[in-house]
Amino acid sequence: MAEVVQCSVHEGVAVVSINHPPVNALAWQVRDSLLTALECAEMDSEVRAILIAGAGKTFPAGADIAEFDMPRKEPWLPQICTQIEMCRKPVVAELHGTVLGGGFELALACHYRIGLRSTRVGLPEVKLGLIPGAGGTQRTPRLVGAKVALDMILSGRMLPLDQAPYRIFADRLVVEPEDLRAAALEFCHEAVSKGPRPSCERREGFADPVATQLELTKRAADEADGPENARREAVAAVEAAFLLPFDAGCAFEEAAFADLVASDQSKALRHAFFAERRAAKVAQSVDPHPSQIKTLAILGGGMLASQLAVAALNAGLAVRWGIADSDRRIAAWTDVEDSLEDAVSAGDLTKQVANDALKRLICGTMPDMIKNADFVIRAAEGLQRSDMAEDVVCAIAVAENVDQIGLRFARPAHLSRLVEVIEGPRARPDQLESAIALVKRLGKQPVHVRSSGETIGGRMMAALHRAADALVDLGASPYDIDDALTKWGLELPPFLQRDATGLRIVGRVERREGGMNWSAVLAQAGRTGRASRQGFYSYLGDAATPVHDDKALTLFDKHRADTNGVKKTDIVPLILGAMVNEGARLVDEHVAACASDIDVVMMTGHQFPRWRGGPMKAAELHGLFRVARTMQGANHPDKALWVPHPRLAALVRNGEGIEALTN
Ligand code: COA
Repeated sequence: MAEVVQCSVHEGVAVVSINHPPVNALAWQVRDSLLTALECAEMDSEVRAILIAGAGKTFPAGADIAEFDMPRKEPWLPQICTQIEMCRKPVVAELHGTVLGGGFELALACHYRIGLRSTRVGLPEVKLGLIPGAGGTQRTPRLVGAKVALDMILSGRMLPLDQAPYRIFADRLVVEPEDLRAAALEFCHEAVSKGPRPSCERREGFADPVATQLELTKRAADEADGPENARREAVAAVEAAFLLPFDAGCAFEEAAFADLVASDQSKALRHAFFAERRAAKVAQSVDPHPSQIKTLAILGGGMLASQLAVAALNAGLAVRWGIADSDRRIAAWTDVEDSLEDAVSAGDLTKQVANDALKRLICGTMPDMIKNADFVIRAAEGLQRSDMAEDVVCAIAVAENVDQIGLRFARPAHLSRLVEVIEGPRARPDQLESAIALVKRLGKQPVHVRSSGETIGGRMMAALHRAADALVDLGASPYDIDDALTKWGLELPPFLQRDATGLRIVGRVERREGGMNWSAVLAQAGRTGRASRQGFYSYLGDAATPVHDDKALTLFDKHRADTNGVKKTDIVPLILGAMVNEGARLVDEHVAACASDIDVVMMTGHQFPRWRGGPMKAAELHGLFRVARTMQGANHPDKALWVPHPRLAALVRNGEGIEALTN
C-alpha cells in the first residue's frame, strides 16, 4: 500500500505529498506521517523550501470526520499548523480541488499558497456543528477581515479561490493542472529569498478596528437566539482573534472546539453527513453513470410536472414535456419561463444560463415526447405506460400504487432535495439503478424505499400526527404540543400544519386506533383551519398570526374523558418514541433499509432540523432507554404508538444505537 505521505527533494525543494484517497482527509496516520516528513525536511540541509501538496483529486478536504467520534490522538492538526508556521524554511501550499476545513487551515498555516484557478476553498465545520479547530478562526480574519471570515465560517460554503475576496488567500494562480507543479516549484525558489511569512503575524484584516468591532457586535446579536451553538462560538472565536494575542485566541478556539465536538448537535450533524452519503449509495451493482441520462421525458401538465421540468433543466438535462391538452402546453411553457426568470431575479441563475435551459425544453404530445427519452417520469394520475420501449424506465411521481419504480419528490420539487426512490414489487435492479442515477443527476438526495407506493416520509409524518392526536386524547393541550415541538426545532408543528392544510381535508383521515378525530371535531364546529381564521388556533390580522383559543380547548374537553394529562416534559420523548417505533417497523418490514435512511428523509424532506439528526438519531441522543421508559408510562389504546416494537426493545436491551437497526 502506498505511503499516506510521500516526500521527495527536487533541487532544494522538499515536496511533501499527501496521498490518502478519496479526499486526503487528515486522519491520524496522515498527520503523523506529515509531521515526520516536515521535521525531516526542516532538518535536511539540502532542503531550502518545503511544498505541501495533495495527490489525486484534491488538497486535503478536511479533518477525518469519522475520527471525531474517537479519542483525540496526537499529533493534532493545530500542532502541525504551529510547526509549519514556525518552520525556519519557507513552506508553500500547492492547492487544487476542494480545500476545506482542516485542509484550508493547513494551507493558511503555510507561509505562501499557490493554487489552480479552479480551486474552491471553505470552512464547512459549522455544518458539522463545529468551528474550525486548527487556527482557522484566528488566521482567516487576520488575512481577510472579520466580515469575510465570518461569511465563510457561518455559511460553510465552497468558494472560488480565483475571485475576490478569496483571491487574497493565493499568492499565485495557475490555469492548467499540468502546469501547477512546475509553477509551484518555481514559486518555492522565489520564496527562499523572501523567507517565511507567518500568518499569525499578519494583521491586515484588522486594519479598521472600529468596523471590525461593529461587525462582530452585529454578528453576535444575529446569532444570539439561534439554536445552533457552533454559530455563536464561531463569532466569539473570531472576536477572540481580534482582541487577544494569537496564542490566547488559539486556546479559546481549542476549548470551544472541544466542547462542540462532544455536543449532541455536532453528533447529530456528523450523523447527517454520513447518513446522506450512505443513502445515496444503495443498490449500485450496475451503476449507470449519472451522466448517461441526458434526455428526460415528463408526462403531465400540472404543477408537479412543471417543477420537475425546472429541476431537470437546471441540472442540464434535455426535457421532452408531454402534455395532452394543447392550450395547457403554452401555459406550461410560460410557467417554466416564469420560474427561471424568478431564479434569475433572485441571483440564483444568470440570464444566459436561463436562456440556455429554455433551449433544452420541448413540449408536445405524450407519444411524441416519449420517443428518444432516456427516462420517463409520469407526473399525472391515470396515464398508462403507452408505447414506450421496454428498456426505458417509466417512474411514477404521483401518489399511486407502484408496481416497478416510483419517484416521490419532496415539494416544491424544483427546490427540495429529497427524492424517495420506490422499488415496487416488480422492479428490476437496472430500473432501480437508473432511477437513483437520475436523482443524483438532478443534484438531489435519493433514498431507497421498498414498497407498493408507501413512502418513509408519509409513514413517519402519519406517526407524528397520530401521536400528537393521542396526546390530546390523553389530556394534553395542542398548544403545549406545538410549543414543545417548536422549541425542540420543528419549523411547522403538527396542529399549525393542519390548520394551514385545512381541517376538512385532514379530518377525513380516520382514526381507527381508539381516539377522537380532533381535526374533524373542529371542522364540524365550523373551525376549518387558517383559511376560515379558526381551527386549532384563531388567526388575527391577515390570518398570519395564530393565537391560542379557549373555545377550541372547551370543545376538546367536551369530547374527552378526565385523564391525568401529560407532563410537558414528556411531550417530545413521546412524539419521538412514536416515530422511532414507526421507524423500527419500517426497517422490520424492509420498507427502509436502515434507521439512518429514515433520518435522511425527515431532514431533507420533512423539516426535521439537521442539528437534531432526524427523529431516529434524536431519540438515540435523548437516550433510547429513556425514550422507551417514557413510552411505557403512556397508556393509550393505540398500542402501536407506545408499546416498544420488538426491534426497538432489542436495541434498548442490548444497549445498541440506531446504527444496529438495519435489514
Ligand atoms: N472525513 C472523512 N471522510 C470524508 C470527508 C472527511 N472530511 N470528506 C469526504 N469524506 C468521504 C465521504 O464520506 C465519502 O466516503 P464514502 O465514499 O465511503 O461514502 C467520500 O469521502 C467521498 O465524499 P463525497 O462527499 O461522496 O464526494 P464528493 O466528491 O461529492 O465531495 C467533498 C467531496 C470533499 C466536497 C465532500 O465530501 C465534503 O464536503 N466533505 C466534507 C468536508 C468537510 O466538512 N471538511 C471539514 C471537516 S471538519
